[in-house]
Amino acid sequence: MHITVVGTGYVGLVAGAGLADFGMHVICVDKIKEKIDILNSGEIPFYEPGLKELVDRNVANKRLSFSTDLKSAVEQSLAIFIAVGTPADERGRADLSAVEELAHDLARIVNDYKVIVTKSTVPVGTNRWIKSIIDKEKKNPVEIDIVSNPEFLREGSAVEDFMRPNRVVLGSDSQRALAIVKDIYRPLYLIETPFVITGLETAEMIKYASNAFLATKISFINEIANLCEAVGADVHQVAKAMGLDRRIGPKFLHPGPGFGGSCFPKDTLALAQLGRDYNSPIRIVETVIEVNNSQKERMVEKIIDLLDGNVKDKTIALLGLSFKPNTSDIREAPSITIVKSLLDKGAKIKAYDPVAMDEFKKLFPETQIQYCEDAYSTAEGSDIVVIVTEWNEFRNLDLKRIKEVVNTPILADLRNVYDPIKVKNLGFKYTCVGRVVKEIH
Ligand code: UGA
Repeated sequence: MHITVVGTGYVGLVAGAGLADFGMHVICVDKIKEKIDILNSGEIPFYEPGLKELVDRNVANKRLSFSTDLKSAVEQSLAIFIAVGTPADERGRADLSAVEELAHDLARIVNDYKVIVTKSTVPVGTNRWIKSIIDKEKKNPVEIDIVSNPEFLREGSAVEDFMRPNRVVLGSDSQRALAIVKDIYRPLYLIETPFVITGLETAEMIKYASNAFLATKISFINEIANLCEAVGADVHQVAKAMGLDRRIGPKFLHPGPGFGGSCFPKDTLALAQLGRDYNSPIRIVETVIEVNNSQKERMVEKIIDLLDGNVKDKTIALLGLSFKPNTSDIREAPSITIVKSLLDKGAKIKAYDPVAMDEFKKLFPETQIQYCEDAYSTAEGSDIVVIVTEWNEFRNLDLKRIKEVVNTPILADLRNVYDPIKVKNLGFKYTCVGRVVKEIH
């Protein structure tokens, strides 16, 4: 079967390469020529573990190709996957302009029966709207069907998540379209992946509800962490014991500097806006957004407190800039709030990230931040070292060596990577999130 995937971001490229690995013939289309040129030259425009190998393998066996020619790709394909971006607009609504433009383009092109499969995260009602645009404007009297197939992959483990998902959600009114998409995903039946078949609106809602629930877990544990600090409790033990209750589960209860990335911030905003639009406000999610914004600010306060209230002309060493490890993505990363605020207050910033520095330089050029080669050169001469992202290489730093090169031994561990007592015993002033350092006798 021939498939077109439109959009070569994380979702589109992983889905395209993954579907090719399932045995489909896939053409990934993007209107940005530079992206297609990069892909055709054998490179990947962003960092994602395992993706290059998957792409290379399927390009080599001629099941995966890249093009800017939407018309030719669609004419050859039975299914067209939509994986274009839906960023938040200034009011928090999902910006559907790329989806809308594509629907108009498809209406001009469709030459035969096609199944349109939406992977982009879109508000409830969008799939029906896409179908209505194509049906109204199509040049040829052909039938089309639409399937909502939300994607649940995580950046950093996107390939694994696509190839071995917890579930596949397919929403449609058409049995014919559902049969075709089920056939595309047949390799997942063999590994007993649960399939949830629903209507269009339900499938759209499942994606927002899932992301909002995960974001809620994070904001919940972050607020509990803040209270733990106030009352002298240890949030890790609280989260562990909570997670042992199977109704709660242990995942997404790790406190930190607040969630970032291209999904949770945008999807919580869009769901809250959807609730307001339908006069059915989702107050929990509105609060989750507020809690998350203040958690990022709170990290700045922690740094200032450790420096006894004075950051002007202090040198701050930041370890990690991406919103989480194993990605070069810095969208909505807590590092951005922290850097902006500290620069405003007159601090000097040194920073290092294994892969996200090029992206970060687009926001904060080398005139504003001194970018370094590794954790130790970043720490050199600094007044405080801050672990912002829990990359593996920051989990086992030689703290004695760090202590020798810094100006003052202060560590702000915003991801709770280190044992507070061990770090204190090494002579560091130390803070983390939600754990008060207490010696046990
Ligand atoms: C998230 C969802 O996990 C995916 O299922 C979904 O498909 C994706 O959004 C999407 O909508 O496309 P992602 O944004 O890649 O995936 O990253 P996560 O691993 O979920 O992490 C999001 C943020 O939450 C990160 O900033 C991370 O540091 C933070 N986080 C996560 C915590 O602070 N604590 C936790 O316990 C877990």
